[in-house]
Amino acid sequence: MNIRARILGAAAGGGLPQWNCGCENCNLARAGKIPAQSQSSVAFSANGTDWAILNASPDIRQQMADCPALHPTGLRELPLRSVLLTNGDIDHVAGLLTLREMQPFTVFATEGIHEVLAENPVFSALNASVVTRETVRLEQSVEIAPGLSAALFPVPGKVPLYKEGEVVETDLLGDQTVGVHLSAGGSDAYYIPGCATLNDDLRERLKGAALIFFDGTLWRDDEMVRAGLGQKTGKRMGHMSMSGEDGSIAAFAGMEVGRKVFVHMNNTNPVLRPDSAERAEAEAAGWTIGQDGMEISA
Ligand code: MLT
Ligand code: MN
Ligand code: ZN
Repeated sequence: MNIRARILGAAAGGGLPQWNCGCENCNLARAGKIPAQSQSSVAFSANGTDWAILNASPDIRQQMADCPALHPTGLRELPLRSVLLTNGDIDHVAGLLTLREMQPFTVFATEGIHEVLAENPVFSALNASVVTRETVRLEQSVEIAPGLSAALFPVPGKVPLYKEGEVVETDLLGDQTVGVHLSAGGSDAYYIPGCATLNDDLRERLKGAALIFFDGTLWRDDEMVRAGLGQKTGKRMGHMSMSGEDGSIAAFAGMEVGRKVFVHMNNTNPVLRPDSAERAEAEAAGWTIGQDGMEISA
């Protein structure tokens, strides 16, 4: 058995184009001049038949419609076995509300992330008699689809935007932001759509990995500020940037990772333009820029 991954949505929260954004990339995507990208989600399978969706984006309805492997196989039979959440951000949990039609599946998440769902009564639309919520302890391995195991590990990050208090720690290590180590038979892959910094622990963990999907939110930390779109830096949002001395491209250089794929790109990120110098630079450093519909096996 090997791992099959399909990127359902390569963009960060908001997507490309974002509904209220008139930035260069969003306008190009609206005009059909660069490919549009939907919000953050990747589907994984070990047997090619049963699938787990990692993060349920607000675009999940269209993402599933666009993916034949996830279509119903009977009247109410679906190849979807589970949804696993890596944090409680809106772009990763709002899609659960679309999956509310009395369809059995399991929601896997840490205790902290399940608490966020439990605090929001709207999620009781996922009827507990058919949708099982399973708590996963850090570093514990669980089977999320036949033959496909997942282990969660802490990744520096912050609480969801709607849970922020006056003081925000952007590189908390706990169970509110996690990465996923997927394995099936002899093959494995990592999924880390949000990461504030690549600490020594993560570096050690990821060394020699065959396939990594990694946080590609921004090209540079002050990209949104420079574009006139607000005051938030990538660091403030709990995301490390691709470029620069403390960026992900530099952090992964020389780490001997097989395949490195950026996901969760914000719509301002220049790598979303296929002809940009930044995309060429990322690709020259061995990275693949994730795209909606892209399939990768490990
Ligand atoms: C993020 O990845 O930083 C969040 O999805 C932002 C948000 O919730 O809008
Ligand atoms: Mn996000
Ligand atoms: Zn935009």
